[in-house]
Amino acid sequence: MTTTEEQRVTSVKEAAGRRAADMVETGTIVGLGTGSTVWFTLLRLAERIQSEGLEIVGVPTSMDTTEKATDLGIPLLGLGEVEKIHLTIDGADEIDGEFQMIKGGGGALLREKVIASISDREVIVVGPDKVVEKLGTTFLLPVEVTSFALPTVSRALAALGCEPVLRLSDPGVALTTDNGNQILDCRFPNGIDDPRNLERAIAAIPGAVESGLFIDLAHAVIIGKEDGSAEVRER
Ligand code: A5P
Repeated sequence: MTTTEEQRVTSVKEAAGRRAADMVETGTIVGLGTGSTVWFTLLRLAERIQSEGLEIVGVPTSMDTTEKATDLGIPLLGLGEVEKIHLTIDGADEIDGEFQMIKGGGGALLREKVIASISDREVIVVGPDKVVEKLGTTFLLPVEVTSFALPTVSRALAALGCEPVLRLSDPGVALTTDNGNQILDCRFPNGIDDPRNLERAIAAIPGAVESGLFIDLAHAVIIGKEDGSAEVRER
């Protein structure tokens, strides 16, 4: 990616991330997603806490977000301390016209899906390049797997029509998630025809902890634009 292209990608992420933070109301519990777009949400939330006395508590979806939010002075609670979340703001790797998504490029899919499942509203922040006609066409589908079962889950995933590849953190070293598991990134040669059924099929594989298919979980998507504006689409 050239420097100009990197700047374009960063500016659309910033536009989306900040716009979502401006939707947060005082007195609410906010799910804090993971990734480079949500980073701008965290920055804007911290700004609002300082400048307008915004009162929120965040529930982070990863160790990375926990560290960043703590450094920025955003008050946090753990999952054990909340029963539901008013609004979660998270990124995505792909989102289609039905608001179905692939997530997990940052490896945080399991906690992200748990937080999404108890959120009244899930708002997704992306750049225009993440909006796709068909899932699986621009991004591999991550599946979190307990390490003992990697060989059997890998074969079962291949039987569903994909080529699974173990995600590495360094050459020759398997990535370990916040939950102590590994990730298989699955390439579907022609994309994913039926995301809903595929999510169910993966959930039925023993040892597959969670897939990065997020079905019926997003309520709105905010698409950042290069001019700093952002388009909000409701499901
Ligand atoms: C984290 O595991 C992912 O689900 C992220 O939300 C997703 O990869 C989007 O990340 P970026 O905002 O960095 O593109």
